[in-house]
Amino acid sequence: MAKSVLITGCSTGGIGHAAATQLAAKGYNVFATVRSAAKAGDLASAENVTVLELDVREQASVDAALAQVGDVDVLVNNAGFEVWGPLEETTVDDLKDQFETNVYGPFRLILGVLPGMRNRGAGVIVNVSSVAGRVAAPINGLYSASKWALEALSETLKYEISHFGIRVHLIEPGGVETPFGDNRRLVGAGAGEESPYSELISQWEQAGQRLTPDGAAQPDAVAGVIVDAVENGNKFRYPATPDAEFVLTARKAMTDEQFEEAMRQQLGITW
Ligand SMILES: NC(=O)c1ccc[n+]([C@@H]2O[C@H](COP(=O)([O-])OP(=O)(O)OC[C@H]3O[C@@H](n4cnc5c(N)ncnc54)[C@H](OP(=O)(O)O)[C@@H]3O)[C@@H](O)[C@H]2O)c1
Repeated sequence: MAKSVLITGCSTGGIGHAAATQLAAKGYNVFATVRSAAKAGDLASAENVTVLELDVREQASVDAALAQVGDVDVLVNNAGFEVWGPLEETTVDDLKDQFETNVYGPFRLILGVLPGMRNRGAGVIVNVSSVAGRVAAPINGLYSASKWALEALSETLKYEISHFGIRVHLIEPGGVETPFGDNRRLVGAGAGEESPYSELISQWEQAGQRLTPDGAAQPDAVAGVIVDAVENGNKFRYPATPDAEFVLTARKAMTDEQFEEAMRQQLGITW
């Protein structure tokens, strides 16, 4: 029987949508979940795909989706969003919201599927993190904090559940061309408000272009990395785009001070 895969955040144009498409084409029984069925696009009529509504912030919604799926062989925690603005101009509610979707959401799904995977002695959990889950940068501190938390949970899980035959993997993309940027919550200087941080925002926006001079990666490429993790799973962390590979390789090779200096130079940050 085909293995069942549940993926969160499968709206059109994003990484989850591309992963659902690729896994379905390989014959998996894909449960592509979206907050609103209207955003499922071509997945609604795709072979091997069942579209379900699921909001990771709502326990009842998670429970209802899991009840419809039954046994989940592969969980891909992909849903996420980003608060964008200097830390001083964010609020505690912004931080709570960021964690509700990016940390508590995946955790709800993990708690939901783990007992079944443990009883069956098999399963794969793929958590879509980010290069920002390893390296914090200006302007997206709340997002970074949420992805660092997801990385920590994943690392602990790896120690605890590989014993039961369950694999855990982290996918770490850099820039990817999806609706992610349009879905950001912009705050303070990030929303263009007059601010002591305005100059930093403008320097950081130019830095992004220096990191991906050839443009951001395509969601299909990241989906391919997810498929590789699901099928082969021979490593824990998967830097998933060329800019992520570049930054994370540099990070590993340098002290904190060397890395900050190198990034400032490479990205032209004089702030
Ligand atoms: N694009 C990048 O540059 C990039 C880089 C590194 C990591 N990532 C990570 O990749 C993952 C996918 O992002 P993407 O680039 O494909 O962006 P995206 O197109 O904005 O996809 C995000 C998905 O998450 C869904 N979502 C948001 N809040 C949700 C909630 N409460 N419950 C269920 N689903 C929710 C969105 O649904 P709606 O359409 O309903 O909002 C959307 O389907 C995210 O975890 C993101 O952090 C992206």
